[in-house]
Amino acid sequence: MGVGKGFIDKVLGDVFHPGGLKLTSELAQLAGIDRDTDVLVLACEEGDSAIFLAQETGAKVYAVDISPEKIREGTKKARKLRLLKRVFFKNASAYDMPFLEDMFDVVLCEMTICLFPDRLNVLKEVYRVLRPHGTTVFSGVIIHDIPKETERKFRELTCLFSSPSIPEYVELFQKAGFKSVKGIDRSEIAEEQYDKLKKKWSKLRFFSKIFLQDTIVDEKEFTDLIKEGERLIEEKKVGYAIFIGKK
Ligand SMILES: C[S@@+](CC[C@H](N)C(=O)[O-])C[C@H]1O[C@@H](n2cnc3c(N)ncnc32)[C@H](O)[C@@H]1O
Repeated sequence: MGVGKGFIDKVLGDVFHPGGLKLTSELAQLAGIDRDTDVLVLACEEGDSAIFLAQETGAKVYAVDISPEKIREGTKKARKLRLLKRVFFKNASAYDMPFLEDMFDVVLCEMTICLFPDRLNVLKEVYRVLRPHGTTVFSGVIIHDIPKETERKFRELTCLFSSPSIPEYVELFQKAGFKSVKGIDRSEIAEEQYDKLKKKWSKLRFFSKIFLQDTIVDEKEFTDLIKEGERLIEEKKVGYAIFIGKK
């Protein structure tokens, strides 16, 4: 379609961040994080989860994001809280992290896996940096029964309706090498965000006018897709899940 990958995800911003720190705490418990755990938080944004985990559990936390601005903000927050000896921010890509093999007991990643264009290679990199018997725990968007053709149409615009389902994700984690992989459906958490999501989604038509003005994109095709997105949100086709696996 040529609108530019991720356009909708940029407009939606942080609207779809289900569960907040309560879910982060649940992920920490599932992964068994405590003061003796070396944790990597992948795609940490401005470090809220990383800082929370260090404060709540006493763990040593490394936090990685591809955005230098977000890493700067995270470092500032940790400095203010005098946590720089326990939370270490690094600007790096999830595909090629500046860490040795077998460095972490736990790798945790929230609400980002659907955004990675090559999810399998990210999971392989997570596997590489985990210690033997280490645990990875992810949370992320899943979809329920969306026809493949609809998924394909949305793929270039947003991961919201083109994310894998739980069985597809489980297979992906297994392909990367993980054992005892479990996918836990937590779509009730996503539903709490639906009103917010609907409001932002309806603004897309306005943003699209600005965004499309210098492109050759067919406006009708785009508007039809946005309407289809509204219907999919109404029908609760977007869900949320936790994934856990062992090295
Ligand atoms: C939707 S935010 C999620 C942030 C955070 N995990 C949360 O739950 O609030 C996605 C984050 O992934 C980061 N990101 C995107 N691609 C990345 C990559 N290839 N490597 C590392 N970080 C990446 C972005 O910079 C952004 O901070």
